Amino acid sequence: MIIGDGVRLRGIDQGDLPLFVRWLNDPEVRQYLALYAPQSNAQEEKWFENLEKLSIAEQPLMMEVWHDQKWKAIGDISFVAVDQQARNAEVGLFIGEKEFWGKGIGTQTLALMLDYGFFTLNFHRIYLRVYALNVRGIHCYEKVGFKHEGKMREAAYLDGEYIDILWMGILKDEWKRKGS
Ligand SMILES: CC(C)(COP(=O)(O)OP(=O)(O)OC[C@H]1O[C@@H](n2cnc3c(N)ncnc32)[C@H](O)[C@@H]1OP(=O)(O)O)[C@@H](O)C(=O)NCCC(=O)NCCS
Repeated sequence: MIIGDGVRLRGIDQGDLPLFVRWLNDPEVRQYLALYAPQSNAQEEKWFENLEKLSIAEQPLMMEVWHDQKWKAIGDISFVAVDQQARNAEVGLFIGEKEFWGKGIGTQTLALMLDYGFFTLNFHRIYLRVYALNVRGIHCYEKVGFKHEGKMREAAYLDGEYIDILWMGILKDEWKRKGS
């Protein structure tokens, strides 16, 4: 368990899968996730079975918030494409419970994940890709300290339009030290 102030990250259990099916079938949640087809229970079961093939660093984590006197699961965050030699990793996240968007939870969760990535997993650089249309996401990542690193022009196709994908990244030295 990775514990922050009102947000915590834990491993994913099989019992969480119905949440993923609901979240990832919501067009508003899915629109910026490069997931364009509906997701079935069977696909989520398969995804869960395949998690054991991933390294510890790449295990997805459930994002939970303290809400109504209990911990509530609201989304997912994970490192992918970990490069052991260059100590680089990509981070991806989504909040599936839409009422929790825009409340600072993405910012807090990324801060926890950067602490984990830089000071436990010893990454040197953490980066992400975001659709140029995803203004909320970009604002969140800028707040955390991710810098714009580049753009892939018209690299995705969404709702009948080609759109740009932005690369953003942060180096360990640019991230604040724990407690500083
Ligand atoms: C992207 C996401 C993880 C960000 O998490 P979040 O908790 O909503 O983000 P935060 O509240 O921490 O930060 C968002 C910032 O953007 C602002 N914002 C919200 N909606 C906005 C909008 N439509 N336009 C511009 N800014 C917006 C918020 O006010 C906040 O800034 P502030 O703290 O200065 O007021 C979350 O919204 C989400 O999961 N969205 C759906 C899936 C997704 O897009 N995943 C990411 C794919 S790269």
